[in-house]
Order: sequence, then structure tokens, then C-alpha cells
Amino acid sequence: MLEWYDAHRRDLPWRSPPGETPDPYRVWVSEVMLQQTTVATVRPRFEAWVTRWPSVAALAAAGEAEVMAAWAGLGYYARARNLRAAAARIASDGFPRTEAGLRALPGFGAYTAAAVAAIAFGERAVVVDANVERVVSRLHAIETPLPQSRPAIRDAADALTPAARAGDFAQGMMDLGATICSPKRPRCLLCPVRPWCDAYASGEPDRYPLKAPK
Ligand code: ADE
Repeated sequence: MLEWYDAHRRDLPWRSPPGETPDPYRVWVSEVMLQQTTVATVRPRFEAWVTRWPSVAALAAAGEAEVMAAWAGLGYYARARNLRAAAARIASDGFPRTEAGLRALPGFGAYTAAAVAAIAFGERAVVVDANVERVVSRLHAIETPLPQSRPAIRDAADALTPAARAGDFAQGMMDLGATICSPKRPRCLLCPVRPWCDAYASGEPDRYPLKAPK
């Protein structure tokens, strides 16, 4: 996965050049924006945001109304309110560098805390979003439907996560899910982990992840 990521990583504005430590503020803002919004939509909105507020201190000093206005169209406005509230805390107390420390900040749920800890601070945190859920479900051909399969998927993602470069591993899984291991018609012939994929071996990779009827 890391070899594939090094060769194919998407050039996204919140990613630092390979080998350089990314700015935790940029990682955090991007992960929050990307939670309910596509990469294509987020890209220009992220650029505008960090141009206007280039640092935690700048965001902490911003007014609530202007922050909410800058979020217009992205939806789930609690995300913007929490960004500003957490920026105020980080500006005074510093950026927590662990998953557990991040988790205590407004708006840092399990996903955001793990993603920022791994990508910005190099912690071996287990990062699971919908892309990772799909990739892992297919690798292991998990027959239990979502959402009941979540604990098993998390355990499997944990077992796969390397001690070093957990952030690159997570972003590789996300890029794989976005570009190759797509929900419909996955491009298995291009997939770096096809030799280990039980769903590919089954002949019906797009049957996974199974979903419980709503
Ligand atoms: N989706 C959410 N976070 C992402 C990231 N860091 N890279 C690519 N896609 C993502």
C-alpha cells in the first residue's frame, strides 16, 4: 500500500510534499471539510479558507458570523462552529498531538481525531472512513452487512495499519477507495492489493460491502 501511495498519491492542497510533515491546521480543516463533502468540492473551498485564515491563531481570532458565512454551501454547519471553537482552545493550549488528546476538542469525533493524529502527528491511529470500510470489506470478503460489520472492519484495519507512516497508509487506503476500489465497477486490474483480495477472488468484488436493508 505504501509503495502504491508513493507512486500514485493524489496531489491535494492539504498534503505536504512527500517526506515533509504536513501542517496540522491544514490537515484538520481538510478532514473536517471532507467528512460530508467530495474532494472536488472541497479543493477550492479549502484553498479559500486557508488563504483567509492561514493558521489556528487567525481562525481563533475570526468572528463567528464570518466563519459561518465562509462555510456557506458546505452543509452541516456544526462543523464550522466547532472548527472555530476548537481553534480558540488550540490557540491557547496548543495542538494536542495524540488521538486521545484531540478527541477532547469540539468537533473531533473518532474519525477526525484518528486522521489528524496519524496524518499530522505520525501516531499509529486506525483511520476508518467509508472508503476504508469498502476496501477492507472487499479484502476480507466480509459477509456481515454494514453497519453490523463495523467492529470487524475496524479490527481488520487495525491489523493492517503499519507502525510507521500510518497517515500515509490511511491516505493510500482512501485514495485506493476513491480511484480504484470504487463502489461500482471497481478497477481491479489496476489494484495493488488484488493478490490479497478475497472479493476479487470471489469474482464479484462489487457485492461488498453488503448492506443491511434499511
Ligand atoms: N478523504 C478524507 N480525508 C482524505 C485524505 N486525507 N485524502 C484523500 N481523501 C480523503
